[in-house]
Amino acid sequence: MAEDLIIVEGSKKAQYEALLPQIEALMEGEPNLIANLANVCAALKSQFDFLWVGFYLADGEELVLGPFQGPVACTRIKKGKGVCGKAWESGQSLVVPDVDAFPGHITCSSLSRSEIVVPFMIPGIADGVLDIDSLEYDTFDDIDVYYLKLIANMLCP
Ligand code: SME
Repeated sequence: MAEDLIIVEGSKKAQYEALLPQIEALMEGEPNLIANLANVCAALKSQFDFLWVGFYLADGEELVLGPFQGPVACTRIKKGKGVCGKAWESGQSLVVPDVDAFPGHITCSSLSRSEIVVPFMIPGIADGVLDIDSLEYDTFDDIDVYYLKLIANMLCP
């Protein structure tokens, strides 16, 4: 049963540390992937007030839009295209401090200034990426990569 998310202030690390057990509790006992992805988006958006938080899920050689919070977004991204397609293809997280400086960046919202994409894999169930866009330049760093990977790993039932 979900309860109100407790929003904390403090360092980025402190905010993620407060969020992790809450995300774990939200997903506990719930095997449905879509439900869990949806709550992860809501939790990250609520805590950090990012412009856009969402998942793209593998669909053949493309990514297709999954649960998200924020402005409407492009529905399909081909493998190797954009920040999402490149992160998915390589299996590596990508931190983009200025989206306009990233060759091939796909603009879904003109308001996005920086972005992070973290691939995830739930063996036998799904794979794809967690994508977050920020209104500010240079929002994301290794701390985000570390905690968002932890969150992505928590998706495995
Ligand atoms: N900017 C992404 C596209 C997805 S949106 O940001 C929601 C990209 O270049 O892959």
